[in-house]
Amino acid sequence: MPSLRRAFAVAAVLFAAKTPMPRSYAQKMPKASHAFTAKMCAGSRFLESQRRDALFVDPLASKLAGPEGLQQPMGDWIMVPRTRFGDDFIIEHYTQRGVRQLVLLGAGMDARAYRLRLPELKVFEVDLPILFQDKEPLLEGETLRVQSRTAVPTDFSSGEDWSWRLRQCPDFDPRQPTVWLLEGLMMRPGGQNLGKWEV
Ligand SMILES: C[S@@+](CC[C@H](N)C(=O)[O-])C[C@H]1O[C@@H](n2cnc3c(N)ncnc32)[C@H](O)[C@@H]1O
Repeated sequence: MPSLRRAFAVAAVLFAAKTPMPRSYAQKMPKASHAFTAKMCAGSRFLESQRRDALFVDPLASKLAGPEGLQQPMGDWIMVPRTRFGDDFIIEHYTQRGVRQLVLLGAGMDARAYRLRLPELKVFEVDLPILFQDKEPLLEGETLRVQSRTAVPTDFSSGEDWSWRLRQCPDFDPRQPTVWLLEGLMMRPGGQNLGKWEV
């Protein structure tokens, strides 16, 4: 029942925020490249999209996950509630609070710009340059459902003021209310210290 699953999803997000990662998962992480963990997340989104009672449908997840992500999905215990929670948060702020900017820090293989029909939203995806080298060719020819999508290649751990790159984006207006989403980033070595930034 979708409403029951949704209630469970919200509870799971709150629980997951306070719970350490399972040991087997934590052991796996140091071996995984950044782009690989992003593909694992997309692999989980693909699996959820196949369910009859799916809490979201991501038509690009399979392509973005690739064979590696599909073989080793991240795990629905975290991915499904986290993704649905984020979707609801964005939609609520768009429809009820007039927010028109979304910044995804550590965006990975996120495809919300292609699956959430929010025609005035400007999406900024911040992640490592190597991630976008994999991702951008996969998105060629796909139709955006938002006003714009901008890839902002940066490395939080470089010590530079990475937010400077965001402020340089012609579409980004630091004076506008913005939803910021950090999903699966804070446990990464590069995500624990976002260094110097100012928006
Ligand atoms: C586990 S993935 C989560 C991806 C996406 N948020 C999701 O939920 O599908 C972590 C993401 O953080 C990015 N990341 C890790 N360290 C980073 C750094 N130092 N600078 C920029 N991005 C980083 C990785 O490239 C990867 O895409």
